[in-house]
Amino acid sequence: MLGGEWSQLRVEPLQRRLHRVAVREALHPLLRAFAFAQCVPFGRERGGVLFRAAAVEPPAASTLEAIEALLGLDATASTGTGPRLHYADPRRGQRRTMRLSGAGGSTRLEGFLLAGDIAAEAWIRPLLQEELPAEAYGRSLLAGGAKPPLPVAARGRQVCSCFDVGESEIAACLHGLAAPVEARLKRLQAELKCGTNCGSCLPELRRIVAAAPAAREPLAVGEPS
Ligand code: FES
Repeated sequence: MLGGEWSQLRVEPLQRRLHRVAVREALHPLLRAFAFAQCVPFGRERGGVLFRAAAVEPPAASTLEAIEALLGLDATASTGTGPRLHYADPRRGQRRTMRLSGAGGSTRLEGFLLAGDIAAEAWIRPLLQEELPAEAYGRSLLAGGAKPPLPVAARGRQVCSCFDVGESEIAACLHGLAAPVEARLKRLQAELKCGTNCGSCLPELRRIVAAAPAAREPLAVGEPS
């Protein structure tokens, strides 16, 4: 069983969509190599292609190499790609490949392939789709297993699309705030910028602020009392 994902960033949306379609078409013939297989797009801004397959016998290494090549995960991929991490144990039918970009705190996961034990998809996938910092993981990205080597701070559902602010950031900002709803909303706007552009997220922000757990201590919220 394997799961593979690809995503390419820093290209214009139309180019990205066209490239995604081209990758899906190129992957299509490989669907026949498995008893079950699907190849579907995922995401919007942080989009890519998800290739998921299952078979009774482990797939041939050449099949996995072909999938890696099409997903930009092979050793020879060059344009716009960063370090490649790879582990393979053919006797056990295990193969894991990660493609990273950036350096230091801006290191991000660009794509991955898991073959054999794919339990790690549960924590690797948020790293990719939510563009979470990946530097601290290093080669432990290849460790496998459902338990992440480090906690994955998923950003949760996106609430403000103008400033790409998610539920978890809002919850963290509201934590401990003792102030009226409108004042807490102003704190969110000041710190995260959410709700300060088109305003379409304001009803949702007000709902979240009103439903936030009761605050423990009064805090100054940056406006005259
Ligand atoms: S979606 Fe939040 S300001 Fe536009």
